[in-house]
Amino acid sequence: MINNKNIPLFKVFMSDEAIKSSSEVLSSGYITQGPIVDKFEKLLMSYFSNEQVVTTNSATSGLHLIIHMLKEYGLGDQKVKIEDTEDHILTTPLTCTATNWPILSNNVNLRWVDVDKTNCNISLDDLEKKLNKNTKAVMVVHWGGYPVDLVRLKQIQENFEKKYGFKFVIIEDCAHGFGSKFNNKLLGNHGNISVFSFQAIKHMTSVDGGCVIFNSSQDYERAKLLRWYGIDRNENRKDFRCEEDIKEIGFKFHMNDVNASIGIENFHHVTNEKLEINIENGLYYNDKLKNVPGVQVMDYSMQSEVPFWIYTIKVKNRDGFMRHMQEKNIATSRVHERNDIHTVVQKYLTKLPELDSFVDEMICIPVGWWVTQQDRKYIVNTIKEGW
Ligand SMILES: Cc1ncc(COP(=O)(O)O)c(C=O)c1O
Repeated sequence: MINNKNIPLFKVFMSDEAIKSSSEVLSSGYITQGPIVDKFEKLLMSYFSNEQVVTTNSATSGLHLIIHMLKEYGLGDQKVKIEDTEDHILTTPLTCTATNWPILSNNVNLRWVDVDKTNCNISLDDLEKKLNKNTKAVMVVHWGGYPVDLVRLKQIQENFEKKYGFKFVIIEDCAHGFGSKFNNKLLGNHGNISVFSFQAIKHMTSVDGGCVIFNSSQDYERAKLLRWYGIDRNENRKDFRCEEDIKEIGFKFHMNDVNASIGIENFHHVTNEKLEINIENGLYYNDKLKNVPGVQVMDYSMQSEVPFWIYTIKVKNRDGFMRHMQEKNIATSRVHERNDIHTVVQKYLTKLPELDSFVDEMICIPVGWWVTQQDRKYIVNTIKEGW
């Protein structure tokens, strides 16, 4: 059976209200960061039950900002800071370059940690082995939205503090994980610094955009300044174009009112309707693909609720699998190349046997809200035909 319609891996969700609202902002005469960004931030604060949310023009900017703060000022109550040439961030290579390139573009060292073959997240076993006194931060990515075991990570952080006298900073790159829950609590709400992306094909888009959730009020206040040159946008100035004294150099990373108006309107649809469909489609695959010959599903047994952004399986003869799916009009992709094999990171190359053991088998299939019940049945049947 061939489905005449293509089933894409990603689809942009743009609500009619977002189109209307953004066109009102566009013709309002005020389009940069202003009251609509404030409104979007309030909405996110209420969603994440956290008052320390700073929007940015992308998740990449947010990550760059955090690493800059780690390097220049220190983060958290303990002001953990990159100080020594051996200082580094432990991170996963299985992610978008956007996770790791902000580390490198801040001239901070990274060290690769192996990847857990059961769920594509950073291996906490390997992480424990690689920690040392120069580990100033750990970067994790919730692959596809499935949470890293944050309880175990917290325990590792506490043991580290007993040994070295400070807590490494935990940075959660939640770009895949909008709406995911771990132990019944949303990602972004587990006491770490967390970054979300509102880029075009993410669960919720503001066209481009992102946010950072901080766990220290000092970092939150500083980030609000640093995202716009180091200037307080709310200050009362004697001359409205001329700022008061700038104490710390900042960037142009702020969100604008046009993007915020799109984010606000899409937010309601995504959180009320779309995420639920992603969750159901993922649960359907967990069940229907678990005993299919030649297919291995991931282990999603931890206490979580996942509106999968991508659904990853392992297959033998991946090229054959991809060809077979393409012939049946179903898009598939590996989505992200492993970051550690690029020329620009050659000096950090290290053996990652677990990632090596499965990276050539992993592949993602369509799972988002546009995949109908009929589509997902068709996808499962097409996989069952073999390749
Ligand atoms: C894991 C991860 N982190 C960060 C980003 C960057 O997001 P943005 O495009 O908002 O900068 C992406 C984008 O795909 C991503 O997949």
